[in-house]
Amino acid sequence: MTEGYQIHSQNVTVKLDANENPYGLHPRLWHRIMTLTWGMTPSRYPASDGAELRDQLARYLKVDGDQVILGSGSNELIQVALTAFREGLDQIVIPSPSFGMYRVIASMLGLTVAEIPLDLTYQIDIDAMKQAMASKRSAVFLCQPNNPTGNCFSSEAVSEILACKPTLVIADEAYIEFGGQSLIKQIDEYPNLLILRTLSKAFALAGLRVGYAVAQASLIDRLKRAKPPYNVSAFSLLAAGVVMDNPMLQMNTLIPLRRDRERLRAALQEIPGLLPFPSEANFILVRVLAEKVGLRADQIRERLLEKGMSVRYFPGNNVLNDCIRISVGRPEENARLIAALQELEG
Ligand SMILES: Cc1ncc(COP(=O)(O)O)c(C=O)c1O
Repeated sequence: MTEGYQIHSQNVTVKLDANENPYGLHPRLWHRIMTLTWGMTPSRYPASDGAELRDQLARYLKVDGDQVILGSGSNELIQVALTAFREGLDQIVIPSPSFGMYRVIASMLGLTVAEIPLDLTYQIDIDAMKQAMASKRSAVFLCQPNNPTGNCFSSEAVSEILACKPTLVIADEAYIEFGGQSLIKQIDEYPNLLILRTLSKAFALAGLRVGYAVAQASLIDRLKRAKPPYNVSAFSLLAAGVVMDNPMLQMNTLIPLRRDRERLRAALQEIPGLLPFPSEANFILVRVLAEKVGLRADQIRERLLEKGMSVRYFPGNNVLNDCIRISVGRPEENARLIAALQELEG
């Protein structure tokens, strides 16, 4: 049995553990969704491939509609992509640490996983990656910005991976709206490049489960054969359609968030024993020097939970077990968190 992805929720009032958009959906968008919901016909199946939403996303990304596929969250598309390619792969290559679901889904599908440690600055060890890929049919995950480290991999490293022509490169851009350079413009050049995106983060629809992938039409066709029909509900299609009708309205909520990320990092840096890493995403990875703080990372997480605040801890991960990951919240949530961390005593 593979160990599943662990998500804990208790009596939490400040939720900073899942990298959601703390501002939620813009009220005007939510109002429009509620109004349109009256006109829905829930007795009917939704459009099987969500053509209307795909076209909206295609316009937003300046690609063609047949270069986009929808998923019930981008998590589902990880599974769909690996299922579509399973027979033609010897292994999955993951620069590590990265998003835990890559390993979970690959293992669930019986695929061999090679985790290649990032270097001390959380950049890709290109020689080790090349060695791992040599003479093996590989699917490589590149998470940009990387969860949970928050940084982006250098464009040179990304180009080198693409130049190696692995069977499949899955560029997960779940956090790209917060920072970093998208690879979307490179899909014309690389028939093996699949970009994963989600409406769960910047677009604040995590609860409705809408993700999408972008690639050359032939690659998207291959994924379509592994995708369950009607995988995105009619309500989710409707809501996503409203949001993508006016993407800038929601994107504007990110302006204060980026500013608050830097403020939060600066405040964390002031706390003795906490080492926050730079981030281009909507979360910050923090290393805990237990001997200075008097508490380990897992104990800090427990203390915060007792005060109704959740941050992410990585049990059983020997590279991250002295770290916590904090999602950037609203200013008042960040202030509560900082106050609680300043009061910590071992
Ligand atoms: C890097 C990364 N990819 C994908 C996902 C999954 O997002 P979705 O809600 O679209 O399934 C997450 C969620 O936290 C993530 O961090």
